[in-house]
Amino acid sequence: MELIEWKDEYSVGVPLLDDQHKQLVSLINQLTKAQSSGGMINYVLDELDHYVKEHFRAEEKLLKKAGYADFKAHKDQHRAFEDWLRAVRQSFGIGGSSSHLLADSINAYLRNWLINHILKSDMAYKPTLNKQ
Ligand SMILES: [Fe+2]
Repeated sequence: MELIEWKDEYSVGVPLLDDQHKQLVSLINQLTKAQSSGGMINYVLDELDHYVKEHFRAEEKLLKKAGYADFKAHKDQHRAFEDWLRAVRQSFGIGGSSSHLLADSINAYLRNWLINHILKSDMAYKPTLNKQ
């Protein structure tokens, strides 16, 4: 899989949220470059736990404050990500699939999230958070 390069057009216009989105891109790139060891997966899952707590909370706070019309649907997408993360951690704990397969499936999910959530759903709130 190719490395992802951050582009200005990915910006939602809020520096804090952009920085957090960049962290996710960096994590995808680390996962892409790394050997898919159990240690690497542990690291990625811990980083994602952190991402979910810090980033989703920050984004939801801003959207709620701004009275974003699609707040509920947006929050549901975040909850779906958290459900996915819990399920991955569970299957990693059981050791059902090889670390290589698991790393690939995490990588694919995060890339899909970048395209369908960050570049579509997050982009949709850009006008709301940037109107002054
Ligand atoms: Fe979001």
